[in-house]
Amino acid sequence: MESQRGWITLPWLILCLNIHLAMVFSAQFFKPFNVSYDHRALIIDGERRMLISAGIHYPRATPEMWPDLIEKSKEGGADVIQTYVFWNAHEPVRGQYNFDGRYDLVKFVKLVGSRGLYFHLRIGPYVCAEWNFGGFPVWLRDIPGIEFRTDNAPFKEEMQRFVKKVVDLMREEMLFSWQGGPIIMLQIENEYGNIESSFGQRGKEYVKWAAKMALGLRAGVPWVMCRQTDAPDEVIDACNGYYCDGYRPNSHKKPTLWTENWDGWYTSWGERLPHRPVEDLAFAVARFYQRGGSFQNYYMYFGGTNFGRTSGGPFYITSYDYDAPIDEYGLLSEPKWGHLKDLHAAIKLCEPALVAADSPQYLKLGPKQEAHLYRENAHGEDLNFSSYRSKSRCSAFLANIDEHRSASVTFLGQKYNLPPWSVSILPDCRNTVFNTAKVGAQTSIKSVDSVLPLSSDISLSEEVVTQNNGVYSTRSWTTIKEPIGVWSENNFTVQGILEHLNVTKDYSDYLWYITRLYVSDDDISFWEENNIRPAVRIDSMRDLLRVFVNGQLEGSVRGHWVKVSLPVQFVKGYNDLVFLSQTVGLQNYGAFLEKDGAGFRGQIKLTGFRNGDIDLSKFLWTYQVGLKGEFLKIYTVEENGNAEWTDLTPDTDPSILTWYKMSYIYVSLPTNALVFFTIMQTYFDAPDGAEPVAVDLASMGKGQAWVNGHHIGRYWTLVAPKDGCQNVCDYRGAYNSDKCTTNCGKPTQTLYHIPRAWLNDSNNLLVLFEETGGNPFEISIKLRASRYICAQVSESHYPPVHKWSNGDDGRVLINDLTPEMQLRCQDGYKISSIEFASYGTPQGSCQKFSIGKCHASNSLSVVSEACLGRNSCSVEISNLVFGGDPCRRIIKTLAVEAICSSSSNVGYAQF
Ligand code: GAL
Repeated sequence: MESQRGWITLPWLILCLNIHLAMVFSAQFFKPFNVSYDHRALIIDGERRMLISAGIHYPRATPEMWPDLIEKSKEGGADVIQTYVFWNAHEPVRGQYNFDGRYDLVKFVKLVGSRGLYFHLRIGPYVCAEWNFGGFPVWLRDIPGIEFRTDNAPFKEEMQRFVKKVVDLMREEMLFSWQGGPIIMLQIENEYGNIESSFGQRGKEYVKWAAKMALGLRAGVPWVMCRQTDAPDEVIDACNGYYCDGYRPNSHKKPTLWTENWDGWYTSWGERLPHRPVEDLAFAVARFYQRGGSFQNYYMYFGGTNFGRTSGGPFYITSYDYDAPIDEYGLLSEPKWGHLKDLHAAIKLCEPALVAADSPQYLKLGPKQEAHLYRENAHGEDLNFSSYRSKSRCSAFLANIDEHRSASVTFLGQKYNLPPWSVSILPDCRNTVFNTAKVGAQTSIKSVDSVLPLSSDISLSEEVVTQNNGVYSTRSWTTIKEPIGVWSENNFTVQGILEHLNVTKDYSDYLWYITRLYVSDDDISFWEENNIRPAVRIDSMRDLLRVFVNGQLEGSVRGHWVKVSLPVQFVKGYNDLVFLSQTVGLQNYGAFLEKDGAGFRGQIKLTGFRNGDIDLSKFLWTYQVGLKGEFLKIYTVEENGNAEWTDLTPDTDPSILTWYKMSYIYVSLPTNALVFFTIMQTYFDAPDGAEPVAVDLASMGKGQAWVNGHHIGRYWTLVAPKDGCQNVCDYRGAYNSDKCTTNCGKPTQTLYHIPRAWLNDSNNLLVLFEETGGNPFEISIKLRASRYICAQVSESHYPPVHKWSNGDDGRVLINDLTPEMQLRCQDGYKISSIEFASYGTPQGSCQKFSIGKCHASNSLSVVSEACLGRNSCSVEISNLVFGGDPCRRIIKTLAVEAICSSSSNVGYAQF
């Protein structure tokens, strides 16, 4: 590839770019086609299809990342991209729409179309999705008489208006299939069935209304409702869950669709990281198609990042990695991506047979083993009749649902060995192309490398400094204290405790409650004599409360509708009592979200006073929304210069409620023993190369961060419980999100994605608002890359799926039966060294391989020859390749561990 680089001339580039742009912006991506369905599948342009869909939420990435994510989905075998539509992002103020930047839905759909993929648009507009307020705009609460998601006129009116807006937009942009666009399916509501019973009859009416309203928009493609067993006739009810193979829709006229296959799970601050093993995920998918399913979507194929304050809650972290096949940063998660890619290719080989049959034929193979066979024109003939294998279009799935034991089964006269909890796929009803438990795909190990900010702007000031015991300060941060309490005229005073969201309207996480009380001599002596402390007592509160008395932080409480009893210290006379109530992502799941609110519920009292408890709701309270720094936008490139930042020295004590700006870096470089030049750097530079960038905030407490004015999200260094993680993750048996967790005893999240598109080459502004105290001097910029790749493939593995093909007559052909190891570095990287290679009986696992009793001595040279200096390579698992059989009558395995390095050799090293 390298040598071809010179071929890319400017006119050629312009031509390619034009073609691409024309494709993205031209109206049609396909010859217009219709979408309908029968009991078996979606029917696309007259043909039943088996479809694989990849869930990607467009605002959880930047538009610059979209093409690559779509490409990786396509390469991974996706036919469809699925997303929700995020109402609160598109209509932040009632009637004012935003479809720009990360919210440019039209552009996203067009990019998908331009790559020849279909689109499933889940409008909701309630979406759940661990997204702030489940996607509802907070202003919706203020519409008089509104009740969400039930038979309520004001709600229905608003919902219809937005759904219509989206459908109309898609139609105007010619994005429906019958217009030559990629959209083949829509969704109305989301898992309403989970909460429907809370609304009684009105819930049932609402479901009917929602379906009718959606159909009335005449979008011309099918609508689904997920988890909605009473979905009306014209709407398909679809399954969400970890497994959906037993699912049947509520009418035999509808196909079996799986809108959310949870291939991982989301995470909360202070929790462990969930991980769903790919063997189990592949098992679930194969079982679904085995038992009659026809459309399956990975929720998520790429999870991405909850930038800004988009994270739902309470308490969902900024990363929405989801353990998805493409990680938060857009890099492949291996072996997940690769193993699923093989699975998808295997399913695609079966597609002709799967769509030809109206239903599978079932064969019991053992107590926990079963086969489903799909073939054309099957009319209940004798299944033992071996000749029908030769007939065209016959595919079969053999499952072993035993969680512990492998099984040897006989299927159509032939023996098959099935590992526990696995499915073998036989595209021709004879040869196994794939088994869900046999992973041949490589494992990639991600690492992060520190890069120090590097100066582009040397010697703005030159100072002569005398060395002082070899210690000299590096001043790199400036700071501003956020005032506690009122900071602007824009405050108001009323009697009583107002509900948090009613005041903030969610324009900020923060709401100040300020009051003053008088403490008498008698109270003080009462406390001293009885050795008691007064306390703030609150019936119920969420998400986070910080209590200040006379400017001092007395304590903080976090929880989701928890009781508070927090001891406080008063002095004699007047005392200023200040509450800082904070939200950490609004509720996104459940019935009656409009009533949920935030902040406090019930009574708020001061206890322990001589004359009994003091009811604080009788007091006058002053309300101040948000932070001064937020209001003045001191995190933006335009405004930060207008604020009065002061220098911060490394010996400064950590302080609460403080803004930090990385804007000056003074690096002292020795020129001789005694003289130093001080280099002043304004802002930080983007690391060279194309690797994803993260900022490591492990040294900080809790807050929010901005890069060049882009809000990269909330951060919080809450630590996960010490225990509850599994040393070994056993893929066998039904998965749940507690099953294979990692990261015990460590902060849930320390790395925060800074999309490349938000960085300049130089002069990047990083601003943090820190609530609890931390050390900004330890903040570093990091690059994320898959540096280590490993793989292990044995003679007993199946040959790569790409060696199979669908013949013209519909029969499946296999060209070569040799298994193969395939290795690949991320884009822009090459295999720079082979750390381990053994063909024989190698022991251990990735990063812990060792040579076993049998070892071909040329293993390393064979693998090096095939792979060194390449972005990707493959090695056949055969004695022939390794110059003969190193140990006869033993199944041989090739295990390899390699290092990938950046091809350009620039970037991380020079810092
Ligand atoms: C589903 C819901 C999704 C998402 C998922 C968990 O129940 O439909 O929106 O919240 O759970 O990640």
